[in-house]
Amino acid sequence: MRHFLTTEDWTRPELQALLDAADDLRRQPVNDQLRGKTIALMFLNPSLRTRSSFEIGAFQLGAHAVVLEPGKAAWGIEFERGVVMDGDAEEHIAEVAGVLSRYCDAIALRAFPLFKDWSHDRQDPVIRALAEYASVPVINMETIVHPCQELALMRTIQDHLGAPDGRKFVLTWTWHPRPLNTAVANSALLIATKFGMDVTLLVPDDAYLLDEHFMDAAHYQAESSGGRFNITHNIEKAYTDADFVYAKSWGALPFYGRPEEEAQLRAPYRHFMVDGAKMALTRNARFSHCLPLRRNVKASDEVMDADYCVAIDEAENRLHVQKALMTALLNNQE
Ligand code: CP
Repeated sequence: MRHFLTTEDWTRPELQALLDAADDLRRQPVNDQLRGKTIALMFLNPSLRTRSSFEIGAFQLGAHAVVLEPGKAAWGIEFERGVVMDGDAEEHIAEVAGVLSRYCDAIALRAFPLFKDWSHDRQDPVIRALAEYASVPVINMETIVHPCQELALMRTIQDHLGAPDGRKFVLTWTWHPRPLNTAVANSALLIATKFGMDVTLLVPDDAYLLDEHFMDAAHYQAESSGGRFNITHNIEKAYTDADFVYAKSWGALPFYGRPEEEAQLRAPYRHFMVDGAKMALTRNARFSHCLPLRRNVKASDEVMDADYCVAIDEAENRLHVQKALMTALLNNQE
């Protein structure tokens, strides 16, 4: 039995096999490979793409998806061990994982960090607790990483650029009204460095560097894959000769849990928005974003409406890569 909690546990050939299977499923989207199987999709946070693509993907493979929203239409869950449960949560993840493992062939979970204590959240404790108690594969639908988004991003890069090795990939921080999860940024670095790209991280201030685990992983993976990993505050330098520009906003970790102070730090940096002038510096780069995206905040209308914007392609690829992932995990549980 194998979980999909982070791509760090998966080799490049294993991930490429999923990407190749996704390409096959794109050509033949409906089959019976998962007939009679069931997957539970647990959402502690909102979703449009993840929920839709998993539900539709399961349906197209002959499986059934059960959507659960703990704390809303399902009982609230306690994830810590040893807690006296006299608060809001009605049941413990030990029982939730045990019961769903009897009903289902896989359990997927979205659980964003709590934005209070990064030293706690950086351990990814919620999905780790689920994986500890589950006896079926667990799939990460976004916690402190977003590995399904990684697969969709790399499928999209390969669809548009071919082999990713040596191609310049820019991950640019952008302004947003509030500090967001670092998951997609962590994941973009992980997948681009694993696949040998020439990766540039563009941030306005060192406070926006990502957690040291992901920075170290990016350096290590770039070295191992023959890629590169650079950090810059210089917008022009970052965009020049880029092949693929990826935008995301995230909160500054040194100000984690202090959004008012963080807002002051980010206030001068609205000009990091992706616009046509910046894209003109690239080598006819493609642009993408995981979505949802606030237009004219993270990227201009001009960029979002351009032929080089492949964000919708990436969203479509969520469907294909997750079908490949479900097929691999649910059919290989011995
Ligand atoms: N990109 C992504 O995960 O979208 P949702 O939050 O809508 O699921």
